[in-house]
Amino acid sequence: MVNILITGGTGYIGSHTAVLLCEAGYNVHIADNFANSDPGVLNRIEQIIGKSIHFSEVDLTSSEDLDLVFKNNTFDAVIHFAGLKSVGESIKEPLKYYNNNISSTMNLLNSMHKHNVDKLVFSSSATVYGECKIVPLEETFPIGQTTNPYATSKFMQELILRDVAFASNLNVVTLRYFNPIGAHTSGLIGENPKGIPNNLCPYITQVLSGKLEMLSVFGDDYETDDGSAIRDYIHVVDLANGHLKAIEKLLQTNSSTSYNAINLGRGIGVSVLEMIKTFENATGRKVPYRVTSRRQGDLPVSYAATDKALNELDFKAERSIEQACRDSWNYQEEFNKTSASKE
Ligand SMILES: NC(=O)c1ccc[n+]([C@@H]2O[C@H](COP(=O)([O-])OP(=O)(O)OC[C@H]3O[C@@H](n4cnc5c(N)ncnc54)[C@H](O)[C@@H]3O)[C@@H](O)[C@H]2O)c1
Repeated sequence: MVNILITGGTGYIGSHTAVLLCEAGYNVHIADNFANSDPGVLNRIEQIIGKSIHFSEVDLTSSEDLDLVFKNNTFDAVIHFAGLKSVGESIKEPLKYYNNNISSTMNLLNSMHKHNVDKLVFSSSATVYGECKIVPLEETFPIGQTTNPYATSKFMQELILRDVAFASNLNVVTLRYFNPIGAHTSGLIGENPKGIPNNLCPYITQVLSGKLEMLSVFGDDYETDDGSAIRDYIHVVDLANGHLKAIEKLLQTNSSTSYNAINLGRGIGVSVLEMIKTFENATGRKVPYRVTSRRQGDLPVSYAATDKALNELDFKAERSIEQACRDSWNYQEEFNKTSASKE
């Protein structure tokens, strides 16, 4: 049995990855402090996989607490999702972001080194490409022209991981995600951030279910066909599958040291207004929205070059954005039913 530690595994992408890894026969241990998730996710993961899951409630910024998890368990590899991810909040509270995201990664690397765990998959982000205006974004493009502290924290973590990989026997696959959307088809797990959502899809589903009044479209005067910004939306189950492929690659590798950054996207740009239409078609409901001014730091167009993921991980996203919209809405409806039955 291969043992995998998933930090941040009760979060949006981590929970879907935990399900896929368990279904593929891995022994998964989740570590999370519920900073942006809820303990009920553990039950829902167990409902999907039909067995119990190992869990430690731990804040990764505490090196002692994290090290106890390593002391009490055996791991062959780690997938590191834990981190704060709101661009807007990071601009207001940069120290909170640098402290949480950088300390967590440093503590994790120290414990991995101490306990001889030498395989790591890291959650990075397309935001590390910063102001680069050339698309599709290739992994060889320069990174670091970042536009907010969240993105800078991801860039800094990439640099730390690269340096540590070169200086030790650590093997790292850094996955640069584009825009994950959708939910598990069961409707049991999905994106349920605390507070007002920062991402488009949970915002839309909360508007559709009456929790939020109206969606804001940030700018319709970009040089794109319909004037709204273009992003690369990828179904979260496809994204989770990318992690499975990355873990398989790492477990096969004999190299004593490596660092490899790979994009995970569909390689197709979709505008915000197109996404709204797709949601409307998928749900049969109108999405009320208003156009507001551009958001500082937003790029007009961002989508991934996907050749490296295909060539090195044999990864290709399979699910459509229509399916992702249906799955997101299904999750929101299930969530609303459960919340209503508790009231
Ligand atoms: N969702 C996206 O659009 C997106 C895009 C690119 C990269 N990423 C990155 O992927 C990772 C997962 O994203 P997500 O969308 O699932 O976010 P999420 O907020 O749903 O999940 C992150 C999880 O990490 C946990 N966490 C945060 N700080 C922690 C700490 N100090 N100790 C223990 N647990 C901690 C949170 O409680 C949460 O469960 C993050 O690192 C994020 O930056 C996300």
